[in-house]
Amino acid sequence: MQINNEFKPTIVAFCCNWCSYAGADLSGTNRLNYPANVKIIRVPCSCRVNPMFILRAFQRGADGVILCGCHPGDCHYTTGNYYARRRMTLLFSMLDYLGIEKGRTRVEWVSAAEGAKFAATMNEFVETVTKLGENKRLEDLRCKN
Ligand code: FES
Repeated sequence: MQINNEFKPTIVAFCCNWCSYAGADLSGTNRLNYPANVKIIRVPCSCRVNPMFILRAFQRGADGVILCGCHPGDCHYTTGNYYARRRMTLLFSMLDYLGIEKGRTRVEWVSAAEGAKFAATMNEFVETVTKLGENKRLEDLRCKN
């Protein structure tokens, strides 16, 4: 028996309920593949994601975190994704300051009709994070099992 020791990153994907989660659902319905190590967390809107959630995900062992929401102007709550975009810009510059590689975080707008885009984005993101390797900088060793 051969044991595959290939690194598989843990990816946390925050998806807004109204567009991106539906996009993820559509990609599943259309049988489009994206890696199983992408763990989707459904949130009411992208602006529900507090920057602390992302830091916490890294602390708990995530190797990459992606935030997906409705396209600008399409948010179910009108302006939620504009707030999310501003917050993430600030957070990402702080993560850059902390030495976290840019490829580990991403914001992507995916509509409910873009199942193919969702799958392609996740495949691409997982590939990028796999190349970066394990996230050790923000990981809290107390959270390791
Ligand atoms: Fe999708 Fe606000 S409901 S980003």
